[in-house]
Amino acid sequence: MSGNEMKYIQEAFDGNWIAPLGPNVDGFEKDLENYLGQESHVAVVSTGTAALHLALAMLGVEKDDFVICQSLTFAASANPIIYLGGIPVFVDSEKDTWNLCPIAVEDAIKVCIEKGKKPKAIITVCLYGMPYKVEEIKAISEKYDIPIIEDSAEALGSTYKGQKCGTFGDISVLSFNGNKIITTSGGGALVLKEEIYKQKAVFLSTQAKDDAPHYQHSIVGYNYRLSNVCAGIGRGQMEVIDQRVAERRANHEFYKNIFKNQEGVELFTEPSEDYQSNHWLNAIIINPEKTGNKDREFWRLAFAEENIETRPLWKPMHLQPLFDNKMYFGANIAETLFNNGLCLPSGSNLTDDDKERINKVIKNLLG
Ligand SMILES: Cc1ncc(COP(=O)(O)O)c(C=O)c1O
Repeated sequence: MSGNEMKYIQEAFDGNWIAPLGPNVDGFEKDLENYLGQESHVAVVSTGTAALHLALAMLGVEKDDFVICQSLTFAASANPIIYLGGIPVFVDSEKDTWNLCPIAVEDAIKVCIEKGKKPKAIITVCLYGMPYKVEEIKAISEKYDIPIIEDSAEALGSTYKGQKCGTFGDISVLSFNGNKIITTSGGGALVLKEEIYKQKAVFLSTQAKDDAPHYQHSIVGYNYRLSNVCAGIGRGQMEVIDQRVAERRANHEFYKNIFKNQEGVELFTEPSEDYQSNHWLNAIIINPEKTGNKDREFWRLAFAEENIETRPLWKPMHLQPLFDNKMYFGANIAETLFNNGLCLPSGSNLTDDDKERINKVIKNLLG
């Protein structure tokens, strides 16, 4: 927290706006729109997962519809496809950004079309804050006329060619979960291209009430709007977003220095100057053959021994028991990244002492 959040929360209490609407909801949406630019229209909701669910519903995903989804991601990218009865079609990553592989995406689309159904959407992720290959994926989306849902849950503050992540998809999604770069304790947003789409998202997230004096409903609605109290937290957080991004990027510089010229350990970093990640999480790929047989699990346990939490990368969705037998396109890049990848401590509030402790463990591991 920045300290400013309480001011907005107090305003919510003083004005008795303890509801999923009110000045903080409107204000937080405006703050996000101004921050993202690109004439974005933002609808805030209770979680990023809810935002993905609504995005899919808005694109008309129904039972047995195919939806392309990046495999190397958190389950929340894919679960909402199942909520709607859709069929996830998982796709591998490419090596530069660890996000959707354009070649495998096109293969997947062709097979879906052969099966008689063009996918309804492409869910592309900005993994750990890293922008995806925006132009390549957009070209495919346009070629086949399939909309993109950009899952930028982890990427608020990242940019591609100077444009903010969260503005590239036909619909983009943000998360303000407690672990994200800014938080509302729980929260999310849809970023839309036009005001009428925002109104549609708000309509769906507030139980889809028709315009009538009584309660009338013609389609299924959801209770997904963000609370005015939580939106107050978001307003305070937006005052420090630039600072938070700078802190995360400073963490990345810290790791860059440690792993510079280091055989056997590769730090996940931007492939070119076009990409600027918020470095929500820093991750490394360990090559045990070059680190004296110290594999990812060896590293994780060495950190754990010093009471430092690290975690394997997201386990790809096509390898999850939940998604057994689902379609998958690509090779084994996501799987190899998972087998050898470790996320390192990356909080905005890492102290010099924390960094010293982390450095010590790494230096020991590297001999
Ligand atoms: C890639 C990705 N997508 C979606 C989500 C879901 O967001 P939320 O936790 O706000 O529902 C998260 C994080 O939790 C995420 O990391």
